[in-house]
Amino acid sequence: MAANKRPDDMERITTPALAEAFIDEQLKALREQIGAKKVLLALSGGVDSSVVAALLIKAVGRQLVCVHVNHGLLRKGEPEQVIEVFGKQLDANLVYVDATDRFLDKLVGVSDPEEKRKVIGGEFIRVFEEEARKLDDIQFLAKGTIYPDILESGPVKSHHNVGGLPPDLKFELVEPLKFLFKDEVRVVGKALGLPDNMVFRQPFPGPGLGVRCPGSITRDRLAAVRESDAILREEFAAAGLAGKVWQYFTVVPDFKSTGVKNGLRAFEWPVIIRAVNTRDAMTATIEEIPYELLGKITRRIVSEVPGVNRVLYDITPKPTGTIEYE
Ligand code: XMP
Repeated sequence: MAANKRPDDMERITTPALAEAFIDEQLKALREQIGAKKVLLALSGGVDSSVVAALLIKAVGRQLVCVHVNHGLLRKGEPEQVIEVFGKQLDANLVYVDATDRFLDKLVGVSDPEEKRKVIGGEFIRVFEEEARKLDDIQFLAKGTIYPDILESGPVKSHHNVGGLPPDLKFELVEPLKFLFKDEVRVVGKALGLPDNMVFRQPFPGPGLGVRCPGSITRDRLAAVRESDAILREEFAAAGLAGKVWQYFTVVPDFKSTGVKNGLRAFEWPVIIRAVNTRDAMTATIEEIPYELLGKITRRIVSEVPGVNRVLYDITPKPTGTIEYE
């Protein structure tokens, strides 16, 4: 237990100087632990795994093998950014796996939310395991565990943590962020030179856009979720709300309603906008988006996203509505 307790005298990392000190200390410890051996990391592109990757690249360079699994449920531009930042700018040893077809084929007809999460989580482990088996001499598995994961071990991370590898692939763990809180991870990420839109990104569930495409996922409705989400993020950024609102996204439910487009009847999906603020995700209040901005977002979504004829705004706090729809 003691090995998993943050030292009482550990200073809170709030400044670039404190982040530099943490980084120096970790580089030394990581080089000592890893030596000339190889480390494997599932790099989702989220804050925690990105910071672990940047730290390990600095410590042991290409001895770190990053595996980025694109399950087809990532937000617009995410896989591209991982390839750009880690593959190109940081010259990481990056294995990019486009498993989109594999995941979406497996998800055809799966409508129960728990079943969907199980399919996505299970398939993720299998793809990662297959990649791990292709590599020789891996001794360590790096993970983006942070202190709240240890303290709470709640439901939030369980679906996308790589914990289920078979016994012959049990590597020694490397968890350099395990005593840090999220805000400290961000300060360290910034000091490591990662881009702001990676370091200050909003929370994103492991099953990704899959839980925002309620019921059984189809490629066309998933595309509507991805495109509308990209528009919402763009408009929030332009309005100065990015980084101020805790979480905001779109959902495309599995029903259609009658509308009219270019003088013709259009039987299409609605897009639901959700924007919430919270401290700990246990309860949440809604962000009151100004009507003018809502109008602008609506005009863009109905004209730019194929298959959509309405935009709805969810004003339900948690409780009773959870933040996500599934
Ligand atoms: P709910 O929908 O339960 O969500 O109010 C609370 C917070 O948890 C996030 N969430 C997840 N995060 N893996 C994650 O890492 C998941 O499977 C998952 N499911 C929900 C959700 O986005 C919200 O911030």
